[in-house]
Amino acid sequence: MRFDIVTIFPEFFDVLDISLLGRARKSGLIELGVHDLRDYTHDRHRTVDDTPYGGGAGMVMKPEPWGEALDSVLDDADDPLVIFPSPAGDVFTQQMARELSENAHLVFGCGRYEGIDHRVFDHTASRARVKLVSLGDYVLNGGEVAVMAMIEAIGRLVPGVIGNPASLVEESHEAGLLEYPSYTKPAVWRGIDVPPILLSGNHGAIERWRHEQQVERTRRVRPDLLDE
Ligand code: ADE
Repeated sequence: MRFDIVTIFPEFFDVLDISLLGRARKSGLIELGVHDLRDYTHDRHRTVDDTPYGGGAGMVMKPEPWGEALDSVLDDADDPLVIFPSPAGDVFTQQMARELSENAHLVFGCGRYEGIDHRVFDHTASRARVKLVSLGDYVLNGGEVAVMAMIEAIGRLVPGVIGNPASLVEESHEAGLLEYPSYTKPAVWRGIDVPPILLSGNHGAIERWRHEQQVERTRRVRPDLLDE
């Protein structure tokens, strides 16, 4: 799977060198291209923003550098999906991560300031599939943190990235439920026992207990998930 990111803060993504995704990149399961939007400007100050038409607070990202940067990423791409992180997008979920992981090539455009000139979305949509995606109902300073979260959630679903794929099936949100609580040795820690059922060796009973824990936890913390 290939990810391309257009941003004014390319160094933000240096952390993708480490951990699970770093290993996936070294082994070739994931390819990453990070592109500095300012490389597509032509003035001395490498300007990427300007005042909004119609007035108002803040600055808007200029269309020309975006057009050239996206041309450079998209020109030879085969059916890419372009994602613009935005609080005005569809909310990112595990289900969306799963669907997005089925694409061979995702391109992320990280907006800053008051956003990107809207013509960039329209023009990009005339040549590629485009999606606006929100991390949640709050406002970030730009798309970079949202893209980091999305790449981590999507990248770990790429076959081979996680050593034991069974761990993907059991985790929170995969069955519409939150995860059950986990314990390891020692059996007693600071006077607190591990639930005795987990030491019983009765795998059927353990499975039932874990499922009850998932349902109880979901009902308490996220009843909206049960309604769905
Ligand atoms: N950019 C600013 N806020 C955002 C959010 N909540 N999700 C995605 N991108 C954003």
